[in-house]
Amino acid sequence: MNLIKSITLPLASAAPILAIYLLTATPAAFAQTNLPVIQIRADTVTAKIPPTFYGLMTEEINYSYEGGLYGELIRNRTFKADALPQPIKPDIYDPAKYYPAKYPANSVPKFWTSVGGAVLKLDPGTPLNDSLNVSLRLEATTAAKSSPAGVANGGYWGIPVTPKTAYQLSFFAKAAPGFTGPLVASLESADGKTILASATIAGVTSEWQQFSVVLKTKRGRATKDNVFKLTTASPGTIWLQQISLFPPTYRNRPNGDRADISQRLADAKPKFLRLPGGNYVEGNNFNERFNWKQMTGPLEQRPGHRSCWGYWSTDGFGLPEFLGWCQDLGMEPVLAVFAGYTLNRDHLTNGPALEPYVQEALEEIEYVIGDPATKWGAQRVKDGYPAPFPLHYVEIGNEDFFDRSGSYEGRFAQFYDAIKARHPQLQIISTTAVKSRTADLNDEHYYESEEAMEAQAFMYDTRDRSLPTKIFVGEWATRVGSPTPNMAGALGDAAWICGLERNADIVLMHCYAPLFVNVSQLNGPNRSMQWASDLIGYDALTNYASPSYYVQKIFSQHQGDEVLATKARNLPTYQWVQAGRRGNAQPRTNEVKSVFYSATRDTKRGKILVKIVNRADAPQAIKIDLAGVKSVAARGTATVLKAANRKETNTINDPQRVVPVTEKIKGLGLSFTRSFPACSITILELEAK
Ligand code: AHR
Repeated sequence: MNLIKSITLPLASAAPILAIYLLTATPAAFAQTNLPVIQIRADTVTAKIPPTFYGLMTEEINYSYEGGLYGELIRNRTFKADALPQPIKPDIYDPAKYYPAKYPANSVPKFWTSVGGAVLKLDPGTPLNDSLNVSLRLEATTAAKSSPAGVANGGYWGIPVTPKTAYQLSFFAKAAPGFTGPLVASLESADGKTILASATIAGVTSEWQQFSVVLKTKRGRATKDNVFKLTTASPGTIWLQQISLFPPTYRNRPNGDRADISQRLADAKPKFLRLPGGNYVEGNNFNERFNWKQMTGPLEQRPGHRSCWGYWSTDGFGLPEFLGWCQDLGMEPVLAVFAGYTLNRDHLTNGPALEPYVQEALEEIEYVIGDPATKWGAQRVKDGYPAPFPLHYVEIGNEDFFDRSGSYEGRFAQFYDAIKARHPQLQIISTTAVKSRTADLNDEHYYESEEAMEAQAFMYDTRDRSLPTKIFVGEWATRVGSPTPNMAGALGDAAWICGLERNADIVLMHCYAPLFVNVSQLNGPNRSMQWASDLIGYDALTNYASPSYYVQKIFSQHQGDEVLATKARNLPTYQWVQAGRRGNAQPRTNEVKSVFYSATRDTKRGKILVKIVNRADAPQAIKIDLAGVKSVAARGTATVLKAANRKETNTINDPQRVVPVTEKIKGLGLSFTRSFPACSITILELEAK
């Protein structure tokens, strides 16, 4: 229960009620001025903050995994990026069947170029296996000592090379009879002038073999305008598959994640990961869904698929890697399962045709939490994870409010019944309202302007507390700024999270989305961004955090574990003229608050944490009154994120323009007035007894 709505009359007419309240509740209550006043009842806990309140969510979008978090440096390592689309309708699609990719005749694989006059061709006639049913045929017939021939790959907009670093190279190769080798692998500057590391690989025969070698760099500076080359000085024909190059990864996990981005995430202390994403769960077609069974086991057994954001995924970052990511960052997985509906609106109705997908979901849960004695638990162990993961939430589908057929009701019920029957302890999340079953949580998504986020920042205060279905805000973002949000985005986010925190009795979890954007090529046909306003931007070498990231970080670090009752008076407002939504609709003027707040307690540290957002372009004095504690120390700390104006932002070349600063402050007490800077987000840590 939240106290905000308990006194809503203007100050003058509310005076008698207020007087009684002040006498009984707080001797240090605020005087009757026009100052905005935020009153905190430290003896009234309105919610325990769920341990998994702040989380992460993204998917294979904007080169988030391949070309982002996933450590792989070679682009199109399996040469399947040219695979022809083969959409299959659900009525003829057999989920148990494997549909091999097909390729355009005689094409040169995307993102690979020839070195020294070699001829490159995709060769479906010489596959490595059924999953990697193609290879690169390298005709190096003119190769000589004076002019080696081979292939080059420029990575994801460059190959990052740092000094004194060991890069793990592996690849499969075979050769036509007569090839005497060896092959030479190298990391070189893009202009070919500097060789940064190289190694020689002998022993290529007419049978497929996997080769592994370390490329070690010497002293120098970190650069990204580099290429990887595999060449030979001996004439011959060679076939190659799965050419993979990994830098040292976060926590040295094999097939692991990029260390700098992982550290950035770890710093924000996320508690859960909604995986594997939103649209990415569904895919454009049934045969392009997140088919997790094809994303486990050895990398060379994973066929890969065309992701719904328009590019090929090798699926090296598959289900085990999502779980490894959870383990590395101490996050709990929130598992979204494919629920028989795709982005092109193909769907199945409930009944026997849906059953294989329900079984798939049960098996996926078994993979995550199953005992090693179970089939899929054993597969997880084989994939490197002996212990089951702490799974509490399973989400059925994604954004099924787009399914106008009405099939979700029946689909949800079929999944719900099967999962609850086998795992009654699991909480089931719906993606739109259902009637025939009571979902434990419903996933709500909000992507809005700054003004819209601020206008709805109080909406959960009035939600019906008696509803049995709780809320998971599984995707949200203030979408202002590209490629990453600016200060306006951060202000909208902070206002919104204050509302989520105040309502943690019904909003049990939330996660900003999406997380990542590769900022190397923002426009054009081969662009690296499909969706603007993402929390963290990067190129091949470095990453930077948006002001919105810092909101996530400082809020999550100052979460507390109890929500304290708050109420506010005299909050200033601004006018938001909202454009008409459709056709000739008239613009609407809304009066929106410009100050936002939330108060929590960290019981372990004995602190009260007060979050205040002033979205106005001028400083704002605010009076803060605390009741229900005997004293508040005069000294405390303030963590402030602010900017000269709401358009200020961070970029890959100017990453530190808007960053939070923590300072010691004084003048605190049971009642104090403080000026909050223009365009600012402040977290006060108060020592209360
Ligand atoms: O986060 C980007 C997309 O937004 C998600 O894939 C989808 O669920 C939502 O519409």
